[in-house]
Amino acid sequence: MSQDTLKRLVSQAAADYILTRIPEGAVIGIGTGSTVNYLIDALASHKVFNARYHGAVSSSNATTARLKMHGIKVLDLNDIETLPVYIDGADEINHHGHMIKGGGGALTREKIIAQVAEIFICIADASKRVNTLGHFALPVEIIPLARAALSRKFLALGGRPVLRTTANGAPYLTDNGNQIIDVHGLQITDPVTLEAKINSWPGVVTVGLFAKRPANLCLLASATGIEMIE
Ligand code: 5RP
Repeated sequence: MSQDTLKRLVSQAAADYILTRIPEGAVIGIGTGSTVNYLIDALASHKVFNARYHGAVSSSNATTARLKMHGIKVLDLNDIETLPVYIDGADEINHHGHMIKGGGGALTREKIIAQVAEIFICIADASKRVNTLGHFALPVEIIPLARAALSRKFLALGGRPVLRTTANGAPYLTDNGNQIIDVHGLQITDPVTLEAKINSWPGVVTVGLFAKRPANLCLLASATGIEMIE
């Protein structure tokens, strides 16, 4: 089965989970990425979504555009008092529910919404499951002025910092107008401590380690079916 097929399967399972477990009138937090795109399509295909839920909060401009394309109401997080669930993909996840995220560049808004949500559900194909985080380069959203200083700090950590660029070689800019450094070659044995450490460096907006607030539930798709890990 292709990775794409697995992403579609896990997204359908996640849509069923939401529609059967999340009470009417709720707002649903929606992440970013190709897996989440399938989720949005799956939710929209259940015609009851708009009648059942108040709407969605979105973690990126791309997700907002897709939700709106399907006629799903997008709300501002500032107007929401409670968010029962946030659902998103991951670049890597370990057995504690710690994740590397930000491959799609939306890590800052993802972390803000995840922090507000009562339950964080991670949806992924099983290739994202690892014992030790770090094979996938760690994305860090930064203020451009701090790029060289932070790169030296990542080198001192034993990593190889690479500024994310677009196809034409220009620095990639996040929805917040910041840059991203992808740090290659880290073996992240203590994600909670490393997240706090990198977050404390001036110029770091958000580190793509989601360990202090891990996933509460993970749906992982493989050729043998959907595994639910709590
Ligand atoms: C975006 C993310 C995504 O969740 C992560 O990159 C996984 O993406 P995909 O579902 O396309 O594999 O963190 O910032």
